[in-house]
Amino acid sequence: MPPEDCAELARYWAESLAEWAIPDEILAKAPEPPWGLPPGLFTPPPEPADTPSRRVALAPLQAKPGGGSVLDIGAGGGAASFALVPPATRLTAVDQSPAMLRSFAERAAERGVEAVTVEGSWPDVAVSVDPADVVVCHNVLYNVADPVPFLTALTEHAELRVVIQITANHPRARLSPLWSRFWGITMPQRPRATDALDLVRAMGLPAESQSFTTARPPVENRSELVAFVRRQLCVGPERDGEIERWISENGFGERQAVCIWWDTGRIQRSRYELDDVPAVIQPDLPDDDQAPAVA
Ligand SMILES: C[S@@+](CC[C@H](N)C(=O)[O-])C[C@H]1O[C@@H](n2cnc3c(N)ncnc32)[C@H](O)[C@@H]1O
Repeated sequence: MPPEDCAELARYWAESLAEWAIPDEILAKAPEPPWGLPPGLFTPPPEPADTPSRRVALAPLQAKPGGGSVLDIGAGGGAASFALVPPATRLTAVDQSPAMLRSFAERAAERGVEAVTVEGSWPDVAVSVDPADVVVCHNVLYNVADPVPFLTALTEHAELRVVIQITANHPRARLSPLWSRFWGITMPQRPRATDALDLVRAMGLPAESQSFTTARPPVENRSELVAFVRRQLCVGPERDGEIERWISENGFGERQAVCIWWDTGRIQRSRYELDDVPAVIQPDLPDDDQAPAVA
Protein backbone atom coordinates (compact mmCIF):
# COMPACT_ATOMS: atom_id res chain seq x y z
CA MET A 1 0.00 0.00 0.00
CA PRO A 2 1.31 3.46 -0.82
CA PRO A 3 2.05 5.66 2.23
CA GLU A 4 -0.18 8.55 3.26
CA ASP A 5 1.96 11.42 4.36
CA CYS A 6 3.26 14.01 1.87
CA ALA A 7 7.02 13.40 2.22
CA GLU A 8 6.45 9.64 2.21
CA LEU A 9 4.21 9.86 -0.85
CA ALA A 10 6.79 11.97 -2.68
CA ARG A 11 9.49 9.44 -1.83
CA TYR A 12 7.22 6.60 -2.92
CA TRP A 13 6.60 8.40 -6.24
CA ALA A 14 10.34 8.88 -6.83
CA GLU A 15 11.24 5.31 -5.86
CA SER A 16 8.46 3.85 -8.00
CA LEU A 17 9.57 5.93 -10.98
CA ALA A 18 13.17 4.82 -10.46
CA GLU A 19 12.05 1.22 -10.96
CA TRP A 20 11.23 2.13 -14.57
CA ALA A 21 14.93 2.69 -15.27
CA ILE A 22 16.11 0.50 -18.13
CA PRO A 23 18.66 -2.03 -16.84
CA ASP A 24 22.27 -1.13 -17.73
CA GLU A 25 22.89 -4.39 -19.57
CA ILE A 26 19.98 -3.63 -21.92
CA LEU A 27 21.02 -0.01 -22.37
CA ALA A 28 24.50 -1.21 -23.32
CA LYS A 29 22.96 -3.25 -26.17
CA ALA A 30 20.57 -0.51 -27.37
CA PRO A 31 21.33 0.40 -31.01
CA GLU A 32 20.31 4.01 -30.31
CA PRO A 33 19.49 6.01 -27.15
CA PRO A 34 15.93 5.22 -26.02
CA TRP A 35 15.23 8.76 -24.80
CA GLY A 36 13.67 11.66 -26.60
CA LEU A 37 10.22 12.24 -28.04
CA PRO A 38 9.65 12.96 -31.75
CA PRO A 39 7.81 16.31 -32.08
CA GLY A 40 5.89 14.86 -35.04
CA LEU A 41 3.94 12.60 -32.67
CA PHE A 42 2.92 15.53 -30.45
CA THR A 43 1.44 17.94 -32.98
CA PRO A 44 -1.88 19.37 -31.77
CA PRO A 45 -4.89 18.19 -33.78
CA PRO A 46 -6.68 20.84 -35.89
CA GLU A 47 -9.82 20.34 -33.76
CA PRO A 48 -9.20 19.76 -30.03
CA ALA A 49 -10.89 16.80 -28.37
CA ASP A 50 -13.64 17.64 -25.88
CA THR A 51 -12.01 16.14 -22.78
CA PRO A 52 -12.58 16.82 -19.06
CA SER A 53 -9.08 18.36 -18.96
CA ARG A 54 -10.03 20.84 -21.64
CA ARG A 55 -13.39 21.64 -20.04
CA VAL A 56 -12.00 22.33 -16.58
CA ALA A 57 -9.30 24.56 -18.07
CA LEU A 58 -11.77 26.40 -20.32
CA ALA A 59 -14.20 27.27 -17.50
CA PRO A 60 -12.16 29.96 -15.71
CA LEU A 61 -10.95 31.38 -19.03
CA GLN A 62 -14.49 31.69 -20.35
CA ALA A 63 -15.51 33.55 -17.20
CA LYS A 64 -12.71 36.04 -17.61
CA PRO A 65 -13.32 39.11 -19.75
CA GLY A 66 -10.79 39.18 -22.56
CA GLY A 67 -10.02 35.48 -22.50
CA GLY A 68 -6.92 35.25 -20.38
CA SER A 69 -3.56 33.55 -20.46
CA VAL A 70 -2.34 29.95 -20.29
CA LEU A 71 1.00 28.60 -19.16
CA ASP A 72 1.72 25.14 -20.62
CA ILE A 73 4.40 23.20 -18.70
CA GLY A 74 6.08 20.43 -20.71
CA ALA A 75 4.14 21.88 -23.61
CA GLY A 76 5.52 19.68 -26.38
CA GLY A 77 3.74 20.76 -29.56
CA GLY A 78 1.09 22.56 -27.47
CA ALA A 79 -1.87 20.14 -27.65
CA ALA A 80 -3.03 21.16 -24.14
CA SER A 81 -2.83 24.92 -24.61
CA PHE A 82 -3.83 25.42 -28.26
CA ALA A 83 -7.03 23.56 -27.29
CA LEU A 84 -7.87 26.59 -25.09
CA VAL A 85 -7.57 29.24 -27.85
CA PRO A 86 -10.07 30.88 -27.95
CA PRO A 87 -10.95 32.04 -25.31
CA ALA A 88 -7.28 32.13 -24.24
CA THR A 89 -5.44 34.88 -26.05
CA ARG A 90 -1.87 34.41 -24.76
CA LEU A 91 0.15 31.21 -24.37
CA THR A 92 3.47 30.55 -22.71
CA ALA A 93 5.13 27.20 -23.40
CA VAL A 94 7.85 25.81 -21.15
CA ASP A 95 9.72 22.73 -22.33
CA GLN A 96 13.19 21.29 -21.92
CA SER A 97 13.21 20.21 -25.57
CA PRO A 98 14.21 22.91 -28.10
CA ALA A 99 12.71 20.77 -30.92
CA MET A 100 9.33 20.67 -29.17
CA LEU A 101 9.43 24.43 -28.61
CA ARG A 102 10.24 25.02 -32.29
CA SER A 103 7.21 22.91 -33.20
CA PHE A 104 5.09 24.88 -30.68
CA ALA A 105 6.28 28.22 -32.12
CA GLU A 106 5.53 27.07 -35.69
CA ARG A 107 1.95 26.10 -34.69
CA ALA A 108 1.50 29.46 -32.92
CA ALA A 109 2.67 31.35 -36.01
CA GLU A 110 0.40 29.28 -38.30
CA ARG A 111 -2.59 29.94 -36.06
CA GLY A 112 -1.78 33.59 -35.37
CA VAL A 113 -1.63 33.01 -31.59
CA GLU A 114 0.39 35.30 -29.30
CA ALA A 115 2.93 32.94 -27.73
CA VAL A 116 6.15 32.93 -25.75
CA THR A 117 8.45 29.94 -25.38
CA VAL A 118 10.80 29.26 -22.47
CA GLU A 119 13.40 26.55 -22.84
CA GLY A 120 14.35 24.69 -19.69
CA SER A 121 13.36 22.27 -17.02
CA TRP A 122 10.47 23.03 -14.68
CA PRO A 123 10.71 24.13 -11.88
CA ASP A 124 14.32 25.29 -12.49
CA VAL A 125 13.17 27.98 -14.94
CA ALA A 126 10.08 28.96 -12.96
CA VAL A 127 11.66 32.17 -11.61
CA SER A 128 11.88 33.56 -15.14
CA VAL A 129 8.30 32.68 -16.09
CA ASP A 130 5.33 34.99 -15.48
CA PRO A 131 2.18 33.61 -13.86
CA ALA A 132 -0.87 32.94 -16.05
CA ASP A 133 -4.59 32.58 -15.41
CA VAL A 134 -4.52 28.83 -16.00
CA VAL A 135 -1.54 26.49 -15.82
CA VAL A 136 -1.82 23.24 -17.76
CA CYS A 137 0.56 20.31 -17.60
CA HIS A 138 -0.31 17.28 -19.73
CA ASN A 139 1.58 14.01 -19.85
CA VAL A 140 4.64 15.21 -17.95
CA LEU A 141 4.32 14.07 -14.33
CA TYR A 142 5.69 10.55 -14.87
CA ASN A 143 8.89 12.29 -15.92
CA VAL A 144 9.19 14.18 -12.63
CA ALA A 145 11.26 12.50 -9.93
CA ASP A 146 10.90 15.35 -7.43
CA PRO A 147 7.19 16.17 -7.64
CA VAL A 148 6.65 18.52 -4.65
CA PRO A 149 8.70 21.51 -5.96
CA PHE A 150 7.30 20.85 -9.43
CA LEU A 151 3.68 20.96 -8.23
CA THR A 152 4.35 23.89 -5.90
CA ALA A 153 5.74 25.95 -8.78
CA LEU A 154 2.68 25.08 -10.90
CA THR A 155 0.43 26.37 -8.10
CA GLU A 156 2.49 29.53 -7.60
CA HIS A 157 2.17 30.34 -11.31
CA ALA A 158 -1.62 29.92 -11.59
CA GLU A 159 -3.83 32.93 -10.91
CA LEU A 160 -6.93 30.75 -11.13
CA ARG A 161 -6.47 27.04 -11.72
CA VAL A 162 -3.95 24.27 -12.34
CA VAL A 163 -4.97 21.41 -14.64
CA ILE A 164 -2.84 18.29 -14.88
CA GLN A 165 -3.51 15.37 -17.18
CA ILE A 166 -1.70 12.06 -16.89
CA THR A 167 -2.34 8.54 -18.04
CA ALA A 168 -3.83 6.21 -15.41
CA ASN A 169 -0.73 4.02 -15.62
CA HIS A 170 2.84 4.90 -16.53
CA PRO A 171 2.94 5.79 -20.24
CA ARG A 172 5.44 3.02 -20.92
CA ALA A 173 3.20 0.42 -19.22
CA ARG A 174 1.47 -0.38 -22.47
CA LEU A 175 4.77 -1.64 -23.88
CA SER A 176 5.23 -4.05 -20.95
CA PRO A 177 4.28 -7.14 -23.05
CA LEU A 178 6.96 -6.20 -25.59
CA TRP A 179 9.60 -5.72 -22.86
CA SER A 180 8.79 -9.16 -21.67
CA ARG A 181 8.86 -10.63 -25.22
CA PHE A 182 12.10 -8.93 -26.36
CA TRP A 183 14.07 -8.83 -23.13
CA GLY A 184 12.33 -11.23 -20.73
CA ILE A 185 11.83 -8.58 -18.07
CA THR A 186 8.72 -7.55 -16.18
CA MET A 187 8.09 -3.83 -15.98
CA PRO A 188 6.69 -2.32 -12.76
CA GLN A 189 3.04 -1.47 -12.06
CA ARG A 190 3.53 1.75 -10.07
CA PRO A 191 3.34 4.67 -9.82
CA ARG A 192 -0.15 5.40 -11.06
CA ALA A 193 -2.35 8.47 -11.37
CA THR A 194 -3.96 7.54 -8.05
CA ASP A 195 -0.53 8.01 -6.42
CA ALA A 196 -0.22 11.47 -7.99
CA LEU A 197 -3.70 12.43 -6.77
CA ASP A 198 -2.90 11.23 -3.24
CA LEU A 199 0.29 13.26 -3.26
CA VAL A 200 -1.37 16.45 -4.55
CA ARG A 201 -4.00 16.17 -1.81
CA ALA A 202 -1.40 15.39 0.85
CA MET A 203 0.27 18.68 -0.16
CA GLY A 204 -2.93 20.39 0.97
CA LEU A 205 -4.08 21.30 -2.52
CA PRO A 206 -7.88 21.12 -2.98
CA ALA A 207 -7.64 18.75 -5.93
CA GLU A 208 -10.52 17.20 -7.81
CA SER A 209 -10.17 14.53 -10.44
CA GLN A 210 -11.91 12.75 -13.24
CA SER A 211 -10.80 9.75 -15.25
CA PHE A 212 -11.68 9.32 -18.89
CA THR A 213 -10.63 7.56 -22.05
CA THR A 214 -8.41 9.59 -24.29
CA ALA A 215 -7.78 8.87 -27.95
CA ARG A 216 -4.62 9.93 -29.71
CA PRO A 217 -5.47 11.17 -33.21
CA PRO A 218 -4.40 8.67 -35.88
CA VAL A 219 -0.65 8.90 -36.43
CA GLU A 220 -0.09 9.97 -40.02
CA ASN A 221 3.50 8.80 -40.12
CA ARG A 222 3.27 5.15 -39.04
CA SER A 223 6.98 4.48 -39.58
CA GLU A 224 7.79 7.35 -37.17
CA LEU A 225 5.62 5.67 -34.51
CA VAL A 226 7.24 2.25 -35.09
CA ALA A 227 10.72 3.83 -34.91
CA PHE A 228 9.76 5.59 -31.64
CA VAL A 229 8.52 2.35 -30.07
CA ARG A 230 11.56 0.43 -31.32
CA ARG A 231 13.90 3.05 -29.83
CA GLN A 232 12.05 2.99 -26.49
CA LEU A 233 12.42 -0.79 -26.40
CA CYS A 234 16.17 -0.70 -27.13
CA VAL A 235 15.86 -3.01 -30.15
CA GLY A 236 16.92 -2.65 -33.77
CA PRO A 237 14.90 -2.30 -36.99
CA GLU A 238 14.83 -6.11 -37.40
CA ARG A 239 11.98 -6.00 -34.84
CA ASP A 240 9.93 -3.46 -36.82
CA GLY A 241 7.61 -6.11 -38.32
CA GLU A 242 6.75 -7.51 -34.89
CA ILE A 243 6.26 -4.01 -33.46
CA GLU A 244 4.07 -2.98 -36.38
CA ARG A 245 1.91 -6.11 -35.95
CA TRP A 246 1.68 -5.57 -32.18
CA ILE A 247 0.55 -1.96 -32.67
CA SER A 248 -2.08 -3.06 -35.22
CA GLU A 249 -3.40 -5.81 -32.95
CA ASN A 250 -3.39 -3.84 -29.70
CA GLY A 251 -4.09 -0.34 -30.93
CA PHE A 252 -2.03 2.59 -29.81
CA GLY A 253 -4.64 5.29 -29.69
CA GLU A 254 -6.93 4.84 -26.71
CA ARG A 255 -5.93 4.82 -23.09
CA GLN A 256 -7.20 5.76 -19.66
CA ALA A 257 -6.25 9.23 -18.57
CA VAL A 258 -6.90 11.23 -15.44
CA CYS A 259 -7.47 14.95 -15.10
CA ILE A 260 -6.44 16.42 -11.73
CA TRP A 261 -7.17 20.07 -11.06
CA TRP A 262 -7.26 22.58 -8.26
CA ASP A 263 -8.06 26.23 -7.81
CA THR A 264 -5.41 28.50 -6.46
CA GLY A 265 -7.81 30.57 -4.40
CA ARG A 266 -6.96 33.94 -5.89
CA ILE A 267 -10.58 34.48 -7.02
CA GLN A 268 -13.89 33.10 -5.83
CA ARG A 269 -14.54 29.76 -7.47
CA SER A 270 -18.27 30.59 -7.68
CA ARG A 271 -17.47 32.97 -10.53
CA TYR A 272 -16.83 30.04 -12.82
CA GLU A 273 -18.59 27.04 -11.33
CA LEU A 274 -18.80 24.32 -13.95
CA ASP A 275 -22.12 23.19 -15.33
CA ASP A 276 -21.08 19.95 -16.92
CA VAL A 277 -18.36 18.74 -14.57
CA PRO A 278 -19.46 17.96 -11.01
CA ALA A 279 -17.71 20.09 -8.39
CA VAL A 280 -16.47 17.02 -6.52
CA ILE A 281 -15.74 13.91 -8.47
CA GLN A 282 -14.88 10.69 -6.76
CA PRO A 283 -11.93 9.20 -8.56
CA ASP A 284 -13.09 6.08 -10.35
CA LEU A 285 -9.58 4.95 -11.06
CA PRO A 286 -8.77 1.29 -11.27
CA ASP A 287 -7.64 -0.10 -7.95
CA ASP A 288 -4.53 -2.22 -7.65
CA ASP A 289 -6.17 -5.49 -8.51
CA GLN A 290 -8.15 -4.21 -11.48
CA ALA A 291 -5.49 -2.12 -13.16
CA PRO A 292 -4.83 -3.36 -16.68
CA ALA A 293 -1.35 -4.67 -17.34
CA VAL A 294 -1.32 -2.63 -20.54
CA ALA A 295 -2.40 1.02 -20.37
C1 LIG B 1 4.90 13.37 -23.41
S1 LIG B 1 5.32 14.99 -23.88
C2 LIG B 1 3.77 15.79 -23.70
C3 LIG B 1 3.66 17.05 -24.52
C4 LIG B 1 2.33 17.77 -24.39
N1 LIG B 1 2.12 18.30 -23.06
C5 LIG B 1 1.19 16.86 -24.79
O1 LIG B 1 0.47 16.37 -23.91
O2 LIG B 1 1.05 16.60 -26.00
C6 LIG B 1 6.22 15.55 -22.45
C7 LIG B 1 6.92 16.88 -22.70
O3 LIG B 1 7.34 17.38 -21.45
C8 LIG B 1 8.68 17.85 -21.57
N2 LIG B 1 9.21 17.78 -20.20
C9 LIG B 1 9.35 16.68 -19.42
N3 LIG B 1 9.80 17.01 -18.19
C10 LIG B 1 9.94 18.37 -18.19
C11 LIG B 1 10.37 19.32 -17.22
N4 LIG B 1 10.71 18.96 -15.96
N5 LIG B 1 10.42 20.62 -17.57
C12 LIG B 1 10.08 21.02 -18.82
N6 LIG B 1 9.66 20.16 -19.79
C13 LIG B 1 9.59 18.85 -19.47
C14 LIG B 1 9.31 16.95 -22.61
O4 LIG B 1 10.41 17.58 -23.23
C15 LIG B 1 8.14 16.75 -23.57
O5 LIG B 1 8.10 17.73 -24.57
